[in-house]
Amino acid sequence: MKFTLRLVSAIWLSVMLVIGAFAYLQIRDERERLVSDLQRRAVLIGEGLSDALEPAAARQSSAAVERILKKLGPAQRGIAVYDRFATLMAATPDVAGTLPPSLPEVTDTVSRNLPTQGFRVLGDVNRFVYATPLIYDNQPVGAVAVFLDASHLNQIEWDRWSYSAIRFLVLAAVISIIAALVVKVSITRPMAEISEWTRALRSGRPVPPPNVADANLFGPLALEVSRLARSMQRAQAAAQQEAALRLSGESVWTEARLKQFVGQQLAGRLLVVVSNREPVSHVWRGSQIHAQAPASGLVTAMDPVMRACGGVWVAHASGDADRETADARGRLGVPVDDPRYTLRRVWLTKEEEQGYYAGFSNEGLWPLCHIVHTRPIFRPDDWAYYLEANRKFADTVLDQIKDAEAPLVLIQDYHFAALPALIKAERPDARVAIFWHIPWPNFEAFGICPWQPELLAGMLGADLIGFHTQYYCNNFLETVDRALEARIDWERFAVTRGEHETHVKPFPISVAPEFVDEPPRISRAELLRRLGITAEFVGVGVERIDYTKGIPERLRALRYFFETYPEYRERLVFVQLAAPSRTTIKRYQDIQHEVEDTVREINQMFQTKTWRPILYLKAHHEHRDIWAYYRHADFCMVTSLHDGMNLVAKEFASVRDDEDGVLILSRFAGASHELRDALIVNPYDLAGMAEAIRAALEMSPDERRLRMIRMRHSVVEHNIYRWAGLLLSELARIPVEMAGAKAS
Ligand code: G6P
Repeated sequence: MKFTLRLVSAIWLSVMLVIGAFAYLQIRDERERLVSDLQRRAVLIGEGLSDALEPAAARQSSAAVERILKKLGPAQRGIAVYDRFATLMAATPDVAGTLPPSLPEVTDTVSRNLPTQGFRVLGDVNRFVYATPLIYDNQPVGAVAVFLDASHLNQIEWDRWSYSAIRFLVLAAVISIIAALVVKVSITRPMAEISEWTRALRSGRPVPPPNVADANLFGPLALEVSRLARSMQRAQAAAQQEAALRLSGESVWTEARLKQFVGQQLAGRLLVVVSNREPVSHVWRGSQIHAQAPASGLVTAMDPVMRACGGVWVAHASGDADRETADARGRLGVPVDDPRYTLRRVWLTKEEEQGYYAGFSNEGLWPLCHIVHTRPIFRPDDWAYYLEANRKFADTVLDQIKDAEAPLVLIQDYHFAALPALIKAERPDARVAIFWHIPWPNFEAFGICPWQPELLAGMLGADLIGFHTQYYCNNFLETVDRALEARIDWERFAVTRGEHETHVKPFPISVAPEFVDEPPRISRAELLRRLGITAEFVGVGVERIDYTKGIPERLRALRYFFETYPEYRERLVFVQLAAPSRTTIKRYQDIQHEVEDTVREINQMFQTKTWRPILYLKAHHEHRDIWAYYRHADFCMVTSLHDGMNLVAKEFASVRDDEDGVLILSRFAGASHELRDALIVNPYDLAGMAEAIRAALEMSPDERRLRMIRMRHSVVEHNIYRWAGLLLSELARIPVEMAGAKAS
């Protein structure tokens, strides 16, 4: 109210000043025009009479002057004649009685012998006085004064002011009403909506921001408020979790605990994570830029860690709108709407991307480490690009840590085997770890890589090497033992080459105990309605389309199941979410075709008018949209032919807070060592998998619940915050070379 009052007062004052100034100027001009009109008339009259009056005035004959004035007749009014002493000689009757004995204008004219003018009130009438000298024989003999009625001047002035006052009142009133309306619609109402929204957020309800009309005005405010609310909710959730844990006497790793732990352990030292895949890429969709989270187990795991710890994440810029959304050095805050850490993007040329990523990493190392009977391809050019890309990432990391004292660098995955040594050579004071997210095969299998010694030497530049399981650690140490000159301490799991020691340890990776972003919680009925299916049972598979994931094997197991148990036809729908992956590689194109053909074949085999056994959703699915599929599936199938860990299995359990749902899990996925309450299968055994599907559908609710509770317990306890805490504390306690002393 006060604001509206202030605004309206300001409007009134401004309108008054503007209208007043214009009225003043207009009235002044008008007056000047009227005065010059009067002056013109007076001059005409005065000068017209001068010739006739001058001889009479020269003779000092008042009678003669009077005669002349009379002769002018009644039409001529307002004239008085004065002698050379400025004494009145005669005047027309209309002014005669009102004239004072002396008039300053006349005195002035006579003394200076020049015309004079002014205004005088004579007999209640405001008059314009014009006096002009009378000259006879070049001698001043008196003056004639002309008196013109000027009372209309005041009237006109008054009228103009009144008109302006009315104009001011009307204008001020109209503008005030409009301003008050605008304030109400654009400020008061949106502010009320925003405060209503803030109140809802404060109470912990996840309410979307109101649709306020003026995004320019209120957008930034809404953004800041939602950030604030989110931090508050996080703090609240952490406090509740802590309280719950304290009550139950347990000590589970949470985001808050990791944050606190990192604060103590790192004591302000910079944490840099390096991976090929970025946590968010920006892509053009028409004329709009869209932020996209990739389908990557690595990102699923590392993003919550970075949100908790802060720091810098260096990654390959893979989106076509990545440049538009980062600063000149390729940096941006992530998550985009509530930045918790910095993403630093690295751009690669098409050739580098092809050779380093598609070629050496994914046609060479990926099949080399996954034993799934796809032959690795090793090309010398790809190897050269791999080294070049590693060098590029090293330069970026070194630039990022140049001012940081004893930073921690966490390198992720098989794309960067050469990177640890490159960083350590320049910054021996940095603590460097590399975590290998995929399996490490036995030494014979790995030995086929032509650049085995170089890869191992690059990795051994790190202070710490992490794998998912002890088995992979053993395989790695044996590979080193066979391929390099190095001392291996099998008791401490450490390798010494020259002066440098590298520790090799298992850190089974995991997921956050709950979805990091608040997902849209839709019901099962709504999910089925959106998918356009009706089904008594729903199974789900969530994968990148990759030949290691065993998708065709799973589909064939479903065919076997429907053949063996026809009573489940028209009752079960299996939904396969499949994100296209590494599509420039021939083997990935082949697996896509194989999966599509198998789906088509099975659907044709069993489908009826109203039912299809498999719903194949080939697309990139946003992480938060997958929640509903996990949550409402009766069973989830993870049937990898070989997998380092597999986080879909853990994520499925983490989402099932209803303590229901069955996990069918490949024994060749690292996760099977931890999730022992899943139905463990051999993905090559179709009959065994079909049997597991039947067992999942027919399992008693009690057994389902018991198994899920145990799996959830394992995931909640061994979560990603614990993984990061253990890895970082291990890394932080390893002694490193002194700062400044370069490794030889
Ligand atoms: C695996 C790898 C990750 C990779 C992910 C997705 O999980 O360990 O490093 O990010 O697959 O693959 P992409 O090639 O799309 O990054």
